[in-house]
Amino acid sequence: MAPKGRMPLISGNWKMHHNHFDAIQMVQKLSYRLSKDDYKTVDVSVHPPFTDLRSVQTVLESDRIPIALGAQHCHWEEKGAFTGEVSPAMLAKLNVSYVIAGHSERRTLFGESDEMVNAKVRAILANGMTPILCVGESLEEREAGTTEERVRAQVAAGLAKVSAEQVAGLVIAYEPIWAIGTGRNASAADAQAVCAAIRATVVSSFGAAAGEGLRVQYGGSVKPSNIVELMAEADIDGALVGGASLDADEFARLVQYQSV
Ligand code: 13P
Repeated sequence: MAPKGRMPLISGNWKMHHNHFDAIQMVQKLSYRLSKDDYKTVDVSVHPPFTDLRSVQTVLESDRIPIALGAQHCHWEEKGAFTGEVSPAMLAKLNVSYVIAGHSERRTLFGESDEMVNAKVRAILANGMTPILCVGESLEEREAGTTEERVRAQVAAGLAKVSAEQVAGLVIAYEPIWAIGTGRNASAADAQAVCAAIRATVVSSFGAAAGEGLRVQYGGSVKPSNIVELMAEADIDGALVGGASLDADEFARLVQYQSV
């Protein structure tokens, strides 16, 4: 597999699964399955629910497990009367490294607009963490042939008022909505075409260095059986994994995709 000059990032988005006891077991099991060498060739992050973050942080730090702590969501304000929300500063205090912004489930089920997603991206960056900005088309948009247009618009809106330097360090996850949790993944060629369009959008707005540094993940029914061909594509730098990240053995196999 040709090296792309960007460290791959394999992220497990646990969504609303695993309480804090389950989460502790998960990271312990992962640490037994993964070796020091695995972490040399791939960055790994886990994104548990909010209630698990402190427990997972404690295990990762006390056992010196080099898995990055991630969150699934946050508000964009520092503090205030926002019942039920969690601020980026609170996540940063827990040594959270990556925060997912604009997952399609949040956009469709909780009404997150492009403006809200952009506010989150900027707040995450302002608090020293890395956003994983999610973009992706619906089945109707794919069938209408408007996939790239949709995704390019989400990228442009999500990155408004972000500097080129910041874009060079961030992560965009291409997650076609029709592929999430359906067992039906985008073909490697289709995923590559959209990920290349994402990078081209970034290059045209932020310059070549931003496009070169940006990591683009694919998400949507990633499994041990399809990760190798997806990761072989030139513009796919990682995977954002839902279902297959819930089992430590399966997630470890995804992290070790280079050795299968
Ligand atoms: P699945 O891997 O379960 O399709 O979920 C993808 C996803 O939404 C990750 O954020």
